Amino acid sequence: MQAVEALAQKGRLNFSQYMAFALYDEVYGFYNNTPYTEHFITAPTRSNCFAYAVANWIMDQEIECVIEYGPGMGKLAHEVTHFLKEQSYRLDSYTLVERSKRLREKIKALYPNQFRFEKTEAAPGSAIIANELFDALPVRRFKWDADKGVLEWFLDHEVVWLPAEVPKELQLIVDKYSPSWPNGYLFEYCFGYQALFQDFLSCGADDVLLFDYGYAQEHFYHPARYEGNVKVYSKHQMVCFDYKHAGFVDLTLPVNWCQFKHCAHQSGYEVHQFGDMSDFLSEYHALDVIDYKDPVVTAKAKELLLPNMMGSAIQAIWLKRKNI
Ligand SMILES: C[S@@+](CC[C@H](N)C(=O)[O-])C[C@H]1O[C@@H](n2cnc3c(N)ncnc32)[C@H](O)[C@@H]1O
Repeated sequence: MQAVEALAQKGRLNFSQYMAFALYDEVYGFYNNTPYTEHFITAPTRSNCFAYAVANWIMDQEIECVIEYGPGMGKLAHEVTHFLKEQSYRLDSYTLVERSKRLREKIKALYPNQFRFEKTEAAPGSAIIANELFDALPVRRFKWDADKGVLEWFLDHEVVWLPAEVPKELQLIVDKYSPSWPNGYLFEYCFGYQALFQDFLSCGADDVLLFDYGYAQEHFYHPARYEGNVKVYSKHQMVCFDYKHAGFVDLTLPVNWCQFKHCAHQSGYEVHQFGDMSDFLSEYHALDVIDYKDPVVTAKAKELLLPNMMGSAIQAIWLKRKNI
């Protein structure tokens, strides 16, 4: 059976349910049926200077347990533990929480017995780390119709737009920004942030270090972004969205940093540091590990460290649990 046939059997799906299928279905999902590095690059898969900086951050904070969410192929986990070992720094545990079954199996095969995959009970003094996790969360998709108000995207054998039930947090956004939106304006909202922060809390994490790309809310819902913010990647190119490509392309939504910080705050975290990834990497000595004799290695590291490339497209955010 093809992915589209499997989708047709699922009945009516909103965009978030569609995206969960397209990315994470155990048979057809993108993360379960294709090596994602064939489609896009991420900082840890580009240069080990990223892992080196994260390892320095772990040592500076005297972290005892690390829980990495969305480790993908496990490169960051492997390199961070390598650098920590070189410095004779002992972690109590390094746990991986990965949604894709195939990626979990891949990590186990690549690095046998190196990591835990089961979260144990909450361990105070632990830290959560993640690279490009929040941009991989399923989101709902809406359309502003000047006559009918907010419509929602559904797949029911074909794409249909139906009157939306708008949750309160989204209604606030619609009230604020819709006066500037053209008719037919597309926009998305991720309802998954809060659940992840609750998960982080239940792990007992005092520190959370995340890297992701995103915008401030006014850019997110700017009238010029009338086609929405979902990005579709195939073979390192941004391509047009077609629901029939489920499983073959990556779907991603930049983080709405305003919503993110609000949810973090509601969950008991405060923003300790927020800025460009390049600044974080420089602060934690990423430059020290680059082998400048190798021009290819140097060029890849520069993509992460120079402000006009990934270094400023991606932000680093460090959250601390309040009142600890
Ligand atoms: C864009 S990839 C990044 C992978 C890796 N961190 C990297 O930088 O190469 C997003 C990863 O997050 C995982 N993921 C998404 N939602 C998740 C969740 N709720 N819990 C754990 N992993 C999740 C995906 O399966 C995928 O491995």
